[in-house]
Amino acid sequence: MNTVASTPLTARRGGPLQGRVRVPGDKSISHRALILAALTVGESTVAGLLEGEDVLNTVAAMRALGARLERTPEGLWKIHGVGVGGFAQPAAPLDFGNSGTGCRLVLGAVAGCPITATFDGDASLRKRPMRRVLDPLEKMGARVIEQAEGGRLPLTLQGATDPLPIEYESPVPSAQLKSAVLLAGLAAPGETIVIEAEATRDHTERLLKHFGAKIVSKPHGEHGRRIVLQGQPELEPANVMVPADPSSAAFPMVAALIVPGSDITLDGVMMNPLRTGLFTTLKEMGAKIETVATRDDGGEEVADLRITTSQLKGVEVPPERAPAMIDEYLILGVAAAFAQGTTRMRGLKELRVKESDRLEATADMLRVNGISVEIEGDDLIVHGKGSVAGGGEVKTHMDHRIAMSALVMGLASENPVRIDDSAFIATSFPDFVGLMRGLGADLA
Ligand code: S3P
Repeated sequence: MNTVASTPLTARRGGPLQGRVRVPGDKSISHRALILAALTVGESTVAGLLEGEDVLNTVAAMRALGARLERTPEGLWKIHGVGVGGFAQPAAPLDFGNSGTGCRLVLGAVAGCPITATFDGDASLRKRPMRRVLDPLEKMGARVIEQAEGGRLPLTLQGATDPLPIEYESPVPSAQLKSAVLLAGLAAPGETIVIEAEATRDHTERLLKHFGAKIVSKPHGEHGRRIVLQGQPELEPANVMVPADPSSAAFPMVAALIVPGSDITLDGVMMNPLRTGLFTTLKEMGAKIETVATRDDGGEEVADLRITTSQLKGVEVPPERAPAMIDEYLILGVAAAFAQGTTRMRGLKELRVKESDRLEATADMLRVNGISVEIEGDDLIVHGKGSVAGGGEVKTHMDHRIAMSALVMGLASENPVRIDDSAFIATSFPDFVGLMRGLGADLA
């Protein structure tokens, strides 16, 4: 599939990292803001949109489904939506590239419209499970007309003419799955209910409220939520400000912790508690992460964070924290490698179905750079020695977060770390290399 020549990159140890930067807008909120604005009649605006490849594929999908999206020269996105249930039949397959979020959320939105659409993606996305989303969408009246083996892409979905509301107990802790059901439920009469045993990121719920839907989320069981959405709302146009992505902030943050003498400030990082599991874990490891200022930014609490180099120690990360840091285990693996002592990360089953098998990928990334790692069931165990030999070449498997994590490791390891391909960084953090170089990183 990936016939384009790959672009290797090498990270070397250098001087301290210093400066004040803002990482790009949150990827989860960016996808959702576009999709909800496209389901609204009238003009909505989105400021601070992440203009990475994943989100730009969602822009293209919304256009193909009949919404009008324009970008002003200042970078403000103006969206004229088609209303709930109003998507038009796309003329060509929708290509989501590398993005599971874009694909699964739009599957949900299309499932509530009387149209047929084909969904496709790159070689990584074609390997990822879609059945988890298709199961509830079929219960709501959508039909899968064609699919690759195991319910994978490419697949063709026929949306429901009269979508049914369902009560759905989610079998996996996945915000994408929850969101797909809620987006389909917008077009169904009555109440669509999603019950999750482990609370996952709640951006869809918050944004639905922001766009005028009636949605109530209450605690359920020890760690879960019960979410009730009133179907067929008249969504109202809204303005969304996208805060800086905590999952992207994770990379310069860990870099500053492990590169000696560093002192950086990350501006406006979203502090939604369902996203900040990494920050909690790093603090338990002894990280000096100081909240300089906090404020409300478009319905989310954001903070300016000052990070200074810290001697980290190994910790145990409980499984119930996984949903709040599901994309951060790769970079936590790097922090754990530089820590003194063993870090055990528990309950990482979902990592196997990300852009790559991130459980194996994290272990491989660390092993080729001289770290002792074990996988026991769904747990990852990293034996930190306070320093990393480096010198390895890391295979990135079309996974942006492997690429960025390995490069961060190379900034503090004794020998350079090389990655086989940096191209996929553009899916979530297009200017990662420029931003890191601006802080003083040696990436070439
Ligand atoms: C996301 C949810 C998570 C996460 C992904 C973004 C979202 O996936 O890994 O990067 O925006 O809903 P799952 O829902 O599959 O856990």
